[in-house]
Amino acid sequence: MGVLRLDKLVSEAVGISRTDARKFIAKGQVCVNGAVCKKADTKVEQTTPLTVNGKAAEYVQYVYIMLNKPQGVVSASTDKRDVTVVNLVQKDFGRRSLFPAGRLDKDSTGFVLLTDDGGFAHDILAPKRHVPKTYKVKLDVPVTAQMQAGFEKGVTLADGESLKPAALTPDLDDPYSCTVVLVQGVYHQIKRMFGVFDAGVVALHRTDIGGVALDSTLQPGAYRCLTAREVALLKREKAE
Ligand code: URA
Repeated sequence: MGVLRLDKLVSEAVGISRTDARKFIAKGQVCVNGAVCKKADTKVEQTTPLTVNGKAAEYVQYVYIMLNKPQGVVSASTDKRDVTVVNLVQKDFGRRSLFPAGRLDKDSTGFVLLTDDGGFAHDILAPKRHVPKTYKVKLDVPVTAQMQAGFEKGVTLADGESLKPAALTPDLDDPYSCTVVLVQGVYHQIKRMFGVFDAGVVALHRTDIGGVALDSTLQPGAYRCLTAREVALLKREKAE
């Protein structure tokens, strides 16, 4: 575990600026291991019990957020024109350098993972990890047996790129809808795969990443932190 300056620890644990953290510390409002500490440059182990104004404050090194991305929001940290997935969580995590670990198109909806843990993002996005992602897809034509067989074999895109096999399960209630599971992440992959069959995608919603399901209680634009179990599940996806 790491050792940090007290002002940094307080600022990150409470989500305030370093300047404000120093003010709290100088006023004697911060206790380290139960004792008031007024020196902002004191070196403190990250796991040391801290209180700020009598309330326990816990330093968390990284955050992992599940967001239900609405349509029209871009999967980026910043954007000159559009609202980004990071903008949506800013009020709670504004002091962290968050980014999306994997993208959805602007018109797609559903599960986007946000984190500030670069190693974790790198691992789950690494092509050789083949972390499965599940999508609910609605087409402008009925789903066919040829599409299902083609996906199972591995689609060759219009530009000649051969893709890995993907599972396509037709929706029994709606001939235009299906569920697709991908194990790779090529730009506009699902739209381009259906394009090979002259089918257009009219709605695309990601429901699952690496065995973690999008929480059905999250309305579009809502988010929550992953549970420890969900983080562990995704980290296990690293193992080949
Ligand atoms: N495939 C697409 O075409 N778009 C997405 O947003 C995700 C997968």
